[in-house]
Amino acid sequence: MPPAIHDILTRRLDPAWKPGEPSALLADYRERMAALAMVSQEIAQATAVFTGAIAGADDLATLQAVRNAAVSRESGAFSQALALLPGLPDSEKRVSGKALNLAKALVEAAEKAKREALESAREGDGDIDVTLPGRRPWTGRPHVLAQVREELLDLFHGLGFSVYTSPEVELETYNFGKLNFAPDHPARDAHDTYFVSPDVLLRTHTSPGWVRAMEERKPPLRLVFPGRVYRAEAVDASHMDQFHQIDGLYVAKNVSMADLKATLNTFARAIYRRDVPTRIIPIYFPFVEPGVQMDVQCATCTGTGRFRDGNEEKRCPVCKGTKWVEVLGAGMVHPNVFKAVGYDPEAVTGFAFGMGLERITMGRHGIHEIREFLQNDIRFLEQF
Ligand code: DAH
Repeated sequence: MPPAIHDILTRRLDPAWKPGEPSALLADYRERMAALAMVSQEIAQATAVFTGAIAGADDLATLQAVRNAAVSRESGAFSQALALLPGLPDSEKRVSGKALNLAKALVEAAEKAKREALESAREGDGDIDVTLPGRRPWTGRPHVLAQVREELLDLFHGLGFSVYTSPEVELETYNFGKLNFAPDHPARDAHDTYFVSPDVLLRTHTSPGWVRAMEERKPPLRLVFPGRVYRAEAVDASHMDQFHQIDGLYVAKNVSMADLKATLNTFARAIYRRDVPTRIIPIYFPFVEPGVQMDVQCATCTGTGRFRDGNEEKRCPVCKGTKWVEVLGAGMVHPNVFKAVGYDPEAVTGFAFGMGLERITMGRHGIHEIREFLQNDIRFLEQF
């Protein structure tokens, strides 16, 4: 082999190339190599270095680098060597030309085989089993509390109630004073909260929304007040220091307790079950008179108060044997509240109700741990 050709063929070799076994790439590799060696031993040796590097390339980038060095049209070693032929004596021209053409074709064939192998290995990454069911794309969804809230707001929308939202950071007078909580009344004890300043606090219920709505608008009003409320509670499985309520308020001429009962029963039948027994019992809230609590029959013991656990019969753990589960507070708006907002208690009457979203959601889904709602554990959230 003329020294110039030797030079070209060896100059482009990179010692970093890792040699592999080219006969694994081409079934006729050995035969073709032997044929080449018969023409030119030296060119065959140089060629073996390129095909070895091709076989040893671990990735497409390395393979491309070897390919460029060997056979790229302009800078490839074989292309450049072939370009030298016209200046050689005839006998050299014939031998080297034949050997270089055989060599170049062999390198190209090895490169092609290796490229195909690397590409199909890449497609097979992770061992895809095409017979497995597809992976469902993960889609988000509203939080379970938001789902129940929307269901409730939709129900009340159907009964003519629109949504009114009011601040979570509230004036003390709206949270208490104007709702007829006397300054030292023990009813305030159940509403211990976080004060921002002596006059400003985190609201303990959504009822202050009524006061804002009534000060802002003239009757008739039919509104629901969804939102987050706060209380300085000791946190446990059924108490958190923040939770959600929805209040409702209907103020007009001649609104009666019968309207309240009909509304609450419609609510209970839609949210619990169509024939759920309900009861209304008196209870004190400063801002309503009379004030009531609505209970629905306990679904766990179906109103027996007893619960069968295997062979043992015991007190129902949900209603604690009382047969009833408390759902909400309600009542007829107290005349003092109307006076506080500038309504004439002789001209209008109204009913109101307030319910806890967590309590309803826990009852609906059998959730026993209120803290789950805020923990954002995806394993909890994705169940709903
Ligand atoms: N605001 C009361 C509370 O959080 C619940 C309540 C009772 C709301 C009676 C009402 C109502 O609208 O009429 O304890």
